[in-house]
Amino acid sequence: MQDVVLSMHAITKVYSTDEMETHALRGVDLTIYQGDFVSICGPSGCGKSTLLSIMGLLDMPTTGTYHIDDKDVSSLNLSEAAFVRNEKIGFIFQSFNLIDDLTVFENVALPLRYSQQSNNESDIEQQVSHVLAQVDMSHRAQHRPNQLSGGQQQRVAIARALIGNPSLLLVDEPTGNLDSRNGDAVMDMLRLLNQQGTTICMVTHDPRYADMASRKLHLLDGKIISAEHVVDTPATVQSISE
Ligand SMILES: Nc1ncnc2c1ncn2[C@@H]1O[C@H](COP(=O)(O)OP(=O)(O)O)[C@@H](O)[C@H]1O
Ligand SMILES: [Mg+2]
Repeated sequence: MQDVVLSMHAITKVYSTDEMETHALRGVDLTIYQGDFVSICGPSGCGKSTLLSIMGLLDMPTTGTYHIDDKDVSSLNLSEAAFVRNEKIGFIFQSFNLIDDLTVFENVALPLRYSQQSNNESDIEQQVSHVLAQVDMSHRAQHRPNQLSGGQQQRVAIARALIGNPSLLLVDEPTGNLDSRNGDAVMDMLRLLNQQGTTICMVTHDPRYADMASRKLHLLDGKIISAEHVVDTPATVQSISE
């Protein structure tokens, strides 16, 4: 039996304003296992980012229950949620969300500096060097994000997401701001990380990238309408595009 990293049951999300209610999620059940590479695809507005925000404890569901690593996280207060998020979740967004005033090294070190576990400077240096090497960006440690290409910035963002060894990497449209060559390189990197054991849940509206996952979910109008297991080892993007 594979370990369960995240399980959700009957998750709904309603955004309410004075004028209207938007039912962004209408009852989502989902289990993610250790080592999974799950892709979630579906048209714009179907609830993909909302689902990812709830998984990553950036937002709370309206109703439903869920667990991360066996811990019930359905009704944590803000500071408890921030703690679990910091310890267990790595995020990668379409916009790289790097801080231009900080070096690549300091951007990647940031989650460790906010962590409640006390990391001394040599721990931090060792961990940052390790993840920068994983994404092949060691040679740019002292650069600023705005001195890098989009593809390189996304690799730095991946390193920042990997720091602290999260249980789950949540990825929202990782290639949305990249040309196809850089997008393919980022996807190949995510695939390699998954082969090395990182559990990934990725949202994309690009079917070619969704096909690289070992499990594909289709979301429509706030519901998972189909789930597909990819039996064969998925091909790399490069070989798909040949
Ligand atoms: N903060 C918000 N307030 C109100 N409505 C929102 C908010 N975020 C998303 N929505 C609405 O919820 C629905 C799902 O949005 P989203 O999860 O961003 O979809 P996707 O990522 O699939 O494009 C959309 O109708 C969107 O307009
Ligand atoms: Mg979205």
